Amino acid sequence: MKLKGKVCIITGAASGIGREIALTFAREGGKIVIADLNGDAAHATAAEIAATGASAMGIVMNVVDEEQVNTGIDEVVGAWGGVDVLVSNAGIQIIHPLEAFPFAE
Ligand SMILES: NC(=O)c1ccc[n+]([C@@H]2O[C@H](COP(=O)([O-])OP(=O)(O)OC[C@H]3O[C@@H](n4cnc5c(N)ncnc54)[C@H](O)[C@@H]3O)[C@@H](O)[C@H]2O)c1
Repeated sequence: MKLKGKVCIITGAASGIGREIALTFAREGGKIVIADLNGDAAHATAAEIAATGASAMGIVMNVVDEEQVNTGIDEVVGAWGGVDVLVSNAGIQIIHPLEAFPFAE
């Protein structure tokens, strides 16, 4: 159990790669925070992890919104006293050929 008792926040963890990171960290004993834009999915994933006996909570967080990030971190610190691990997984992927990439993107 490499993460026993460690508070681990994983952004974008309601689905995909972040979700798998969260499940893996939970198996290693981490206390898992699913921080995601999609609150319903974040809570559902956290509940799924909690059902295995691990500690998990879901929080609504849009990582581009500073206020939501601060509020979410405060919620975690209030509940579990601090943060040990942060995985900044949330993001978007925009693919174009380099010569056709709009500057704004
Ligand atoms: N899947 C791939 O092959 C691949 C390859 C390279 C990089 N990536 C990157 O890895 C990350 C995860 O990819 P994935 O395939 O698991 O994607 P996914 O779409 O399955 O999951 C992304 C999760 O992030 C959440 N999310 C999106 N924007 C958010 C925001 N602003 N704040 C908080 N949460 C947000 C979504 O609600 C979703 O739950 C992305 O940044 C993606 O661009 C993925």
